[in-house]
Amino acid sequence: MDDTPWYRPAALDGILADAAAQGFAMSCEDRTGSLLGTLAASQPGGQIVELGTGVGAGAAWLLHGMDSTARLTTVEMDPHSQAVAVRHLGEDPRVTFHNMNADRWLDGYDGPLLDLVYVDCRPGKFRRMGDLLTLMRPGGIYLVDDLMPQATWPADHQPRVDKFLEQLPGIPNFTSTALRWASGLVIGVRI
Ligand SMILES: C[S@@+](CC[C@H](N)C(=O)[O-])C[C@H]1O[C@@H](n2cnc3c(N)ncnc32)[C@H](O)[C@@H]1O
Repeated sequence: MDDTPWYRPAALDGILADAAAQGFAMSCEDRTGSLLGTLAASQPGGQIVELGTGVGAGAAWLLHGMDSTARLTTVEMDPHSQAVAVRHLGEDPRVTFHNMNADRWLDGYDGPLLDLVYVDCRPGKFRRMGDLLTLMRPGGIYLVDDLMPQATWPADHQPRVDKFLEQLPGIPNFTSTALRWASGLVIGVRI
């Protein structure tokens, strides 16, 4: 089976070119992006959140899948990276960019319950996952990637990933599946 994605957001190649020019190498891979777009399409009118915008590759895939009434909030603490995303995606009225620490966003969010979250930084993933789940509606989808070993990981990262995976079965009101695919994913549902 060839699992190369068969669709591609129009903005993606420009985003990745700018990312390469500024040495940003943490964008999601295409298969993960395609899954993000597919999940976003399952949420017409959905409230979607990404923690860790990077340069906007994941956001481009999410926006590609979203309908005209869905909304994406994406949070990034590094203004230099997020500026690339704003440059390429900022004209889209469905997306709101927050330049802030995801911890602060988690502390302050008081909007509608979330339908889909893509967590790509430590808050909401390696810590404070419970805080994020309280912001999700029952049936809401949770996705994280980068769970299979990467050459760039610092020595202390594998134990962090192991701990994250070990605690998943015991989290109340949550069911999930680990996928040994792309960079290593967990897809879960708030129940
Ligand atoms: C893996 S990259 C994001 C890639 C992007 N989500 C994508 O799919 O293309 C992780 C990003 O999270 C940001 N980040 C790390 N810790 C953060 C925090 N506490 N709050 C907000 N952003 C954070 C980093 O600056 C980095 O740009």
